[in-house]
Amino acid sequence: MNATNFDLESLQAELAGSNPRVILKAALAHFENIAISFSGAEDVVLVDLAVQLRPDVQVFTLDTGRLHPETYRLIEAVRKRYGLAIDVLSPDPFALQQMVKAKGLFSFYEDGHKECCGLRKVEPLRRKLATLDAWVTGQRRDQSLTRTALHEVEYDQAFGGEGHVLVKFNPLAGWTSAQVWDHIEAYDVPFNELHRKGYASIGCEPCTRPILPNQHEREGRWWWEDGAKKECGLHVRDGG
Ligand code: ADX
Ligand code: SF4
Repeated sequence: MNATNFDLESLQAELAGSNPRVILKAALAHFENIAISFSGAEDVVLVDLAVQLRPDVQVFTLDTGRLHPETYRLIEAVRKRYGLAIDVLSPDPFALQQMVKAKGLFSFYEDGHKECCGLRKVEPLRRKLATLDAWVTGQRRDQSLTRTALHEVEYDQAFGGEGHVLVKFNPLAGWTSAQVWDHIEAYDVPFNELHRKGYASIGCEPCTRPILPNQHEREGRWWWEDGAKKECGLHVRDGG
């Protein structure tokens, strides 16, 4: 099946509030050409659940070139543990070289993260999504004020569009951080060592820091910018 011949509204109603495994099962049943977008953080639970349903499930990661060593180690541990050929995507070297030559390696502290994220994450993601009918993310409603209206399944209006209908599944939408960690512990899922060092939400090394007790997890991301700007362009939605 592909995105043009399925009924989004009825699937949304069916999956609302469902367990991540049920959502993943439906996603894989509806789409052959579907891949998991794995960030190297606690979204590893998606991979753990999906391989039980489809052992050779497609998984990709956006290697910005600025990830922590711990994140690269987790990506490798996941590759080995589940026997997956993880697609590690790189940015366009020429565009990157030009930006770094003109603005240096830390321009995001001065003029915001949009340009760097655009080159290192959004453009490689756009290239990958152009080859897919559907993708799966680890976004949760409890992660951010910009994600409180997140659906379990939705059309991706940012990367899909006329001529290419793209569906996005968010199986962890209704889970809390505590539920994710229960699963990681219960099933001995490999996890990013940064979580032992006070990191909650994990992105690139220069743009991520540990949080203090009771700080919100997004406060460890792009901390020099306003809360409302703390999306890097991978997940754009109406009202988001
Ligand atoms: S971000 O937009 O702020 O960077 P976040 O870190 O919350 O996103 O992650 C939400 C989901 O976006 C992840 O579970 C994953 O599906 C996807 N994602 C984020 N960063 C990456 C990455 N580097 N590679 C692949 N997927 C990613
Ligand atoms: Fe660049 Fe920071 Fe965005 Fe990573 S998170 S792509 S280093 S601005």
